Amino acid sequence: MAGYIRYGVAGSFIVAAWGLGLTGVSNASGTYSAGNATTAEAVVYREECGACHVAYPARLLPAESWSTIMTTLDDHFGENAEVSDETAAMISAYLTDNAGKPGRGMLKRVKGDAPLRITELPYFVRKHDEVPERMVSGNAEVGSFSNCNACHQRAESGDFDEDSVRIPGYGRWDD
Ligand code: HEC
Ligand code: HEC
Repeated sequence: MAGYIRYGVAGSFIVAAWGLGLTGVSNASGTYSAGNATTAEAVVYREECGACHVAYPARLLPAESWSTIMTTLDDHFGENAEVSDETAAMISAYLTDNAGKPGRGMLKRVKGDAPLRITELPYFVRKHDEVPERMVSGNAEVGSFSNCNACHQRAESGDFDEDSVRIPGYGRWDD
């Protein structure tokens, strides 16, 4: 069962399970203690998926999105980000266990389709619509919204509070 959940074959089941409040579904099956597994998996996740950009907090996308991302790493936004099967299994388990719940927080209004980009979430777009192009794509130190940590000083720890935003070349955000 856990294999199916983790690899997204039963992606809609994940969503249904979360909806019913059955948290910890994919934790319940481990051959090791959940605590240790989470730690080792989290380290591997941060190492592998933090190499080209910040290791995005897992809660910012639903499990279904992470499953799709993990099964298409050979063509990852124009890059090859493939990892070994063993590494992929650990990362997938980590992301699935810590994924966001559709409909809540940043995943508000995200329903059926699993988005592949955090930067395309309705919540994200709304929060950033006052940030002008020249500070992002026109800013050599930022390049794109995908570089959360260029502006959010504490993105690494999952803190995106607008009070800790500092845009390179422009300074603090004051709205
Ligand atoms: C070889 C470099 C590389 C590695 C390694 C890599 N990525 Fe990426 N990733 C990219 C690029 C390039 C983009 C697109 C960035 C942009 O549009 O500016 C991206 C974008 C993303 C996005 C969408 C961000 C957005 O715009 O909202 C997610 C989610 C993501 N990566 C997850 C992962 C995960 C999970 C891993 C680890 C399995 C990973 N990445 C490893 C290069 C990489
Ligand atoms: C070019 C700089 C920049 C980049 C890159 C950027 N942000 Fe932001 N972000 C901002 C600014 C500025 C605000 C505050 C906007 C406002 O309140 O008008 C903000 C607000 C937010 C908020 C709302 C915070 C609050 O206190 O309400 C979240 C959540 C957030 N960003 C997440 C992200 C994530 C996740 C990424 C990467 C995928 C990202 N941001 C990339 C500049 C940026």
